[in-house]
Formats: sequence, structure tokens, C-alpha cells
Amino acid sequence: MEGAWWQLLLLLSAFSLAHLVECKVTYDHKALVINGQRRILVSGEIHYPRSTPEMWPKLIRNARKGGLDVIQTYVFWNGHEPSPGNYNFEGRFDLVKFVKLVQQEGLYVSLRIGPYVSAEWNFGGLPVWLKFVPGIRFRTDNEPFKNAMQKFTKKVVDQMKSEGLFEPQGGPIIMAQIENEYKGTQTVYGHPGIAYMNWAAQMAVALDTGVPWIMCKQDDAPDPIINTCNGFYCDKFVPNKPYKPAFWTEAWSGWFTEYGGATTQRPVEDLAFAVANFLQEGGSFVNYYMYHGGTNFGRTAGGPFITTSYDYDAPIDEYGLIRKPKWGHLKALHKAIKLCEPALVSGDPVVNSLGNNQKSYVYSAGAGKCAAFLENFDANSDATVIFNNKNYYIPAWSISILPDCRSVVFNTAKVSVQRSQMNMTPVGRLVWESFKENVATYEDGSITDMGLLEQINTTRGNTDYLWYITRVEVGDDEPLIKNGGISNLSIQSAGHAFHIFVNGEYLGTQYGKRESPRLRYSSDVRLRVGTNTIALLSMTVGLQYIGPNFESRIAGIIGPVTLSGFKEGTRSLSRQKWSYQLGFKGQSKDLHMTSGQSSVQWVKGAAVPQRQPLTWYKAVFDAPDGQEPVGLDLSMMGKGEAWINGQSIGRYWHSFLMHGNCSNGCNYRGQFRPTKCTTDCSHFSQQWYHIPRSWLQPRENLLVLLEEIGGDVSTVSIGTRAIDTVCVHVSESHPQRNNKGRQLQIPKVRLKCGTGQKISAIKFASYGTPSGECGSFQKGVCHARTSFAVVNKKCVGLRTCSLPVSSELFGGDPCPQVQKSIAIQAVCS
Ligand code: GAL
Repeated sequence: MEGAWWQLLLLLSAFSLAHLVECKVTYDHKALVINGQRRILVSGEIHYPRSTPEMWPKLIRNARKGGLDVIQTYVFWNGHEPSPGNYNFEGRFDLVKFVKLVQQEGLYVSLRIGPYVSAEWNFGGLPVWLKFVPGIRFRTDNEPFKNAMQKFTKKVVDQMKSEGLFEPQGGPIIMAQIENEYKGTQTVYGHPGIAYMNWAAQMAVALDTGVPWIMCKQDDAPDPIINTCNGFYCDKFVPNKPYKPAFWTEAWSGWFTEYGGATTQRPVEDLAFAVANFLQEGGSFVNYYMYHGGTNFGRTAGGPFITTSYDYDAPIDEYGLIRKPKWGHLKALHKAIKLCEPALVSGDPVVNSLGNNQKSYVYSAGAGKCAAFLENFDANSDATVIFNNKNYYIPAWSISILPDCRSVVFNTAKVSVQRSQMNMTPVGRLVWESFKENVATYEDGSITDMGLLEQINTTRGNTDYLWYITRVEVGDDEPLIKNGGISNLSIQSAGHAFHIFVNGEYLGTQYGKRESPRLRYSSDVRLRVGTNTIALLSMTVGLQYIGPNFESRIAGIIGPVTLSGFKEGTRSLSRQKWSYQLGFKGQSKDLHMTSGQSSVQWVKGAAVPQRQPLTWYKAVFDAPDGQEPVGLDLSMMGKGEAWINGQSIGRYWHSFLMHGNCSNGCNYRGQFRPTKCTTDCSHFSQQWYHIPRSWLQPRENLLVLLEEIGGDVSTVSIGTRAIDTVCVHVSESHPQRNNKGRQLQIPKVRLKCGTGQKISAIKFASYGTPSGECGSFQKGVCHARTSFAVVNKKCVGLRTCSLPVSSELFGGDPCPQVQKSIAIQAVCS
């Protein structure tokens, strides 16, 4: 009897032990271990406040359809705690809702709490009020900072726990990040930096989430924290302990844009190559930064000068539309990786050289499980290698994936999915009304002080704008009067930009650069006898978000401010009395809100001014029909901010001159860097601004613009975004699989237009040896004359069409013995 009891007890404790093991997320040298199983995980970064809760379900669904297992996000402290102790977890900041939606879609979450996050986000995610806590220094061994950081981190962890969202509780969160790329700053801070980093690690671990913590780019992250890699490539990355797995927390899918900068594109062939390269080397977690970049609504953009769009050339574009071929090619890559997962998790690869720049990586596990990667890292030449007694052709700078060590199911450089080109179609006309914001006068100021005030201390980050106003008395005996009133005005500012008004007249704008926001102005101005008023409208354009001591970066007119041509020579204005106005009067009257519309008299019709500084414009419009995403074309405006029904869709700025050079074409082969593939250089950094559909009501939406320096408001238009052109180019030799994972003997081309669209025309079709790019395809020497007629008949009028790349379809082989392909360009409408 006693024995039986013992047996039962043993059984029970074995059960609860197993249960314990199962209910924790752990790791070993190979991978994250979830419910006792090692996993190869593909993740995508989506920042919840960079879209709207209405967009989240579809974004997450398209992430799952794209073959992701995990959604990774930062947590944005300054959005969650706008003032001390006043929390906001609603709307775009409803983190719990976001995490639950990810779970509903069957995906995991990697939660990067930070709470310093970088991310091109205002002040790196830290609240501006934190800067004013007595004795504080950010991100170092400083008690006030550590207390605040711990309090917020714990708040987030407790919230996740109370909702049961960590994996051991049955939730989706499988890991969490503390800090962000701290090592660079730590090196500058020395011992206090090291102490802080170790404190942050211990503090996080003590929160007892049941899931591993990571620190990115922190090669000295203490156990049990996993140090991870960020970059365009991470194949050389080795974790700091042999018992930690190799994780890539930021595989940069593109790059961010700054005003004055070009738009970067990262070719998907290179991105897929980088990811396959990391996995073949033994990596087991890859996160695309970004998978959907989204929008820096309101004043959330970091700075200075980060654009409102955070599109990032990500697989899902800023508007939530799938970007092809990027999304589709990566989806095919993820499918191939999943087929390899059982072999990949089983151990380390056997690596062999197959040539000067070619290698094979073979993962084998018992029961015939075998997966191989064949790599050609030559940036110039294709190669044919012999592997397991068979010939394999590998294009330059590419990797072929063989989930059974025999047949290639995917090559990173062979893109067989379509390219979709998006277009914005303007809809309707806008009728404008205006209201003139006066240049601030000395009497308007709410603060006066002797001398120049630092801007962020004065505004506390609550507004971009600070007016600096002073008076200058000029006697009729001053030398400058004899010189026609001409005086040289010289101004120095710590950034980021300012407009100059003398006696109420706008004289110009000065702005810095992201790397060097300090600026200086020097120009002749005309003064008059008596009292002159100098009003400088200084502005921040997103607060510094990165670098050591970033919290102590200053902004605003710091001086000296001088005028020449006085009896005493140059007169300094820096120490005299200045009056300060925070923000615009129109904003304090709520002109950007529906509620504030009747607080002023709006000008209508022909009297609405064009190209006038300091002008509020408003228009009322109905939501465009359909469900397509909506944008606002502000390309002919100067600089300002735009609101829809009281919600800010962000800052705009088109007068910022481009300082980047565009790349001449883009070759995916060879190391990528953000300047390698750039577009829009002679254009604007950003032309269209996203208006989320859910911010619109069916009728009478209020659009308000605050224009600072003057623009042509008659050209502003609302547009809807949709695919207008689709292209494919697939060769007979493209490895492809059907939905069941079976190898297709004859590859297929597939064209697909957007929801509600059809293929309305074929612009180009050639079966043979066509060449060129989408938009400039050309027939080759070999061309089946039936190409156009066949494609036209099979596709026009349909939303989707699919054709085999085979001679039969085209009435015979136009050039036997030659490898052929099909190229098609079609119009969607
Ligand atoms: C990383 C950083 C991210 C983001 C990225 C560039 O270094 O961790 O938060 O700033 O650079 O987009």
C-alpha cells in the first residue's frame, strides 16, 4: 500500500516537473525553447502607435500570412505616461489590445520594453517631463532615473501579467527586452554605465516574467540575459556565452527618412540573402525591423528632422498595403525555412567549401532529416557548384535552400512573385478658408526675461514653437540710418530651425541638419527710426532620440543675436529683454479642433491668401468612396502641421532642400548601406501624408493646416492609394512550390490586383528572353509571337491570373535549347 502511495507521489511530482518545464520559455545554445521545443522563429516589428487599432488586425493577419511567427514591438513610455503618474493605455496606445490581437492570430510577441527605445521616436521614447526630475541623468547609474525606469518597466510587466499575457501564463509573450543598444553609450559613461547596465539586467530579471530577457547590441549582457544582434547583416554574430542562442533583433528591411534626405530601398534579394545567411550560420530568431513601419503621427517623430512617414521600405507599406515583391519573396523564404526547421534545430551545421566564394551548410538530424544551404557570396559572378554529386547553379550574392538536401525550393536572388506599383489617385477638390495668425508682438508674450531662454526648458516639449521677441530702439543719428536703415542681423541657434520676422515682415527660414542641428543666420535687414520689433519663431522638429547625454541637448535661439551699424558698432541683443510666446494663438483657440472653428472669423473664397506665412487653412470634405487607404498631398506647401477632425497626422515640410545624392540604379549584389539604393532625391522627402480611414467620418471631415512660411494651398489634394501596375518576370528554372509544399515541375507566374480591382490591360508580355525592369521590359532575340494575345486572353478582366512558364501555352517553343522566361506588365484598375 505504502509503495503505491510513493509511486503516485513520484508520478505526480514528475508530472508537475514536466509541467514546470513546459510552462517556461527557456533557451539553450541553439534556440528559444517553448513548451520544451526548440524553435526557429521569424518575427516582424510593428509599432502599435504607428498605426491605428482599426489597422492592427489586418496588419497582424498579413504578417501571419507572410510567414511570421512573432510580432516584435517597443513600448513607448512617453505615449503611455504623458505626465507623471497619468497613464494612457488607450487608442493607439492600447498595448494590451495589440498583444491580444497578436495572440488571436496565433502569433507570439517579443516585447521590447526599453523603456529607452531609440526608434526614431521623439526623445527615444522617454517622457520630456523626466528631464525635469531634480538630479536626473538618463541611462546611467543615477537613482532618480533608475527609480523612474523601474517603476515604468514594472508597470508594463505587471499589466502584462495581470492580463495573463506571458507565455507561461498561456499568453503570447515569449521574450522581453530591457534597454536598447546601450553599449555605445555605456562606453562613453565608463563605470557608471557598466553599473547601470548590470542594474537594468538584474532589475528586469527580478520581475520574474517566466520568459527570457534580451539586450540588443550589448556584448557584455550578464547572464541570464541574451545579447542579440542588430544590423543589415548578422551572420558574423556570436553570442557572449556558448550556451546562448544567436538572435537577430533588428534585420533592417530598409531605412528611415529624414527631411532633406532621400528615400532608401533595400532590395529584397539582399534582405533574403542576409536572413538565409544568418540562419545557415546557426541563428534561430530573426526580426525584420520594420515589417510595417507606419506613421509618426502628431509630434511623435524623433529628431531632429525625422519625417512623418516611417514607411521604412518595409514588407507592409506605411498605409498597410502589402509591398510586393518584398512581402511575397520573404513569404517564400519563410516557407522554405519552415521546411528546414526540424533539421535546423537539431544541431550545428557541417560547413564545406564548394569553391572560392561558395559554401555548403548541411544540418542533419536522425530519421533522414537533412537541410542544406548553398551559398555564393561572390558579389559579381554566378557559380555552378557540385554538391552531393549534383550540379547546382547559384546566382551571385545568393543562397539556395534545400530542405531535403537535394532539391532547391528557394533561391534568395530569384524573385518569382510580382512587383506591385502603388499609386495615389487624387479625388475631388477642396474648398479652402483661412485665418491669419499674426506675427507675435512683444506684448503677446506670456514670459519676459533678460536674455535668451533655452527652448526645451521653456516649452517642456509641449509645443514645437517658441517665439523670441525683442525691441530695438534706433535713433535718427545711428550710422545705419545714414545707410538706408540697413543693418546686418546675425543670429545663432542651437536648432532646429527658425523663421525671422522684422517689423512684422517674414524674411526667411534657417534650419540645421540632423547630424548638426546648430545654425547661424546673417543677413541685411532694414530698420527704421524708432521702435523695431524682431520676432524669431524658433522650433524643434522632433527631439533628439539617440546618443550619450541626448537628454541634455538644447534647442532654440542661444545667441549671440547682434545688429550692426550702431554708434557703438555691433549691438548685442542677447542680454536685453525678450518676450516669449509658446505656440500659436490659433492653437490655443483650438483652431485645429472641430470645437474651435467658431472662435475666429474665417476668410472665404477669392480672399483666401496663397503663399502667406503663418496661415491657418481649413477645408471640409467627404470620405473618399471605397476602402482604399487615404493620403494627403502636401507637396506644394511649405512647413507646418496637419489635422483631420482634430487628430494630428503629423508635421510636414517641403521647403527643406534635398541634400542627398541619389544612387544610380540599384544592384542587390554586394554589401548594402542606406545610401546604396535611394530614390526621390530631386523631389521631396515626403509628398503624401497618411490619413487613417478610421479618423474619417462619411461626411464633412475637417482638414486643418497650419502653414508657417507659405504654400500653394490650391494644389493640396486628398488621394486614395491602390496598385496601378503589376509586373512579373519568371524563368523556367525558378524553384517553386505549391501550397502543400510540393515542388512545381513547371514554374508559374501569378498576377494579382488589389481588392475591388481587375487586370484592365496588358502593357507588355513576352515569353522568350525578355529583359529589363518593370516599366521598361524589352523583348529579347527570342520572343513567342503569341505572347501578348495569350496573356491578354487569360488575364484581362480578372483580379488574379496564373500561367505556367511553358512553351505549350504559347503554341510551341520559340527557341529550343535556350532558357526562357515570361515577363508581363499589367494595369490594375
Ligand atoms: C537601431 C535602433 C532602432 C532604430 C534603428 C534605426 O540602432 O535600435 O531603435 O533606431 O537603429 O532605424
